[in-house]
Amino acid sequence: MTTFDWADVDNYLADKLVGDRDTTAAALATNAAEGLPAIDVSAAQGKFLHLIARSIGARRVLEIGTLGGYSTIWLARAVGEKGLVVTLEFEPRHAEVARGNLNRAGVGDRVDIRVGAALESLPVLGAEDPEPFDLVFIDADKVNNSNYVQWALRLTRPDSVIIVDNVVRNGAVADDASTDSAVQASRDLIDLLSSDPRLDATVLQTVGSKGWDGFVYAVVNDNTAG
Ligand code: SAH
Ligand code: DHB
Ligand code: MG
Repeated sequence: MTTFDWADVDNYLADKLVGDRDTTAAALATNAAEGLPAIDVSAAQGKFLHLIARSIGARRVLEIGTLGGYSTIWLARAVGEKGLVVTLEFEPRHAEVARGNLNRAGVGDRVDIRVGAALESLPVLGAEDPEPFDLVFIDADKVNNSNYVQWALRLTRPDSVIIVDNVVRNGAVADDASTDSAVQASRDLIDLLSSDPRLDATVLQTVGSKGWDGFVYAVVNDNTAG
């Protein structure tokens, strides 16, 4: 009997369901040609982010960790012509590649890429007193995940959604003796989520072309309700 692995299933599903693979495949090919690491979300995950954004009627999305803009394209397509994605990226080179990919995907005009360490860009963004973001997608340096969630809370409203990529880390998140800083950061984040009354959260484990991982899905509570 032929056996199939997670990547085979992801490829099959992506071919059937993800749609418009030309534009997104072109972005991934550009990333590869420019030497960016292939650590984007998978096609099925990108589509999923897009569908979540559509499901909640998101018009304003904040992303932390742009890379070449692959996930950004999916989010930007969801917010509509009048929507906005603000995406934060540390590496100027990544931001430049993302700018090209987003323009070629036809969504460049609805994406604001801000170059710099996110913990420096976030206070600048906050000082602009922006309209609350409907969705925040956190996918940058994992050690700062709890800091990013704290910032996301300042920049959102009740019922906004906060998603954090890569928290399961091949299962290592269950290891309380792990010395890996990214694993410790995942565990710290889960402690924060389990105790902070401002958020209601779960983690969905995922398998696929990017291996075994998972993401936090959190909704901002309305703590002012009686
Ligand atoms: N969301 C992208 C993948 C992001 S990879 C996608 O799915 O297509 C993580 C990105 O975070 C990298 O481009 C990395 O340069 C960036 N990054 C790392 N540390 C950062 C920081 N302190 N501030 C902002 N971006 C950071
Ligand atoms: C890495 C980062 C990611 O956001 C991801 O999805 C996979 C890997 C990394 O830094 O290795
Ligand atoms: Mg990721």
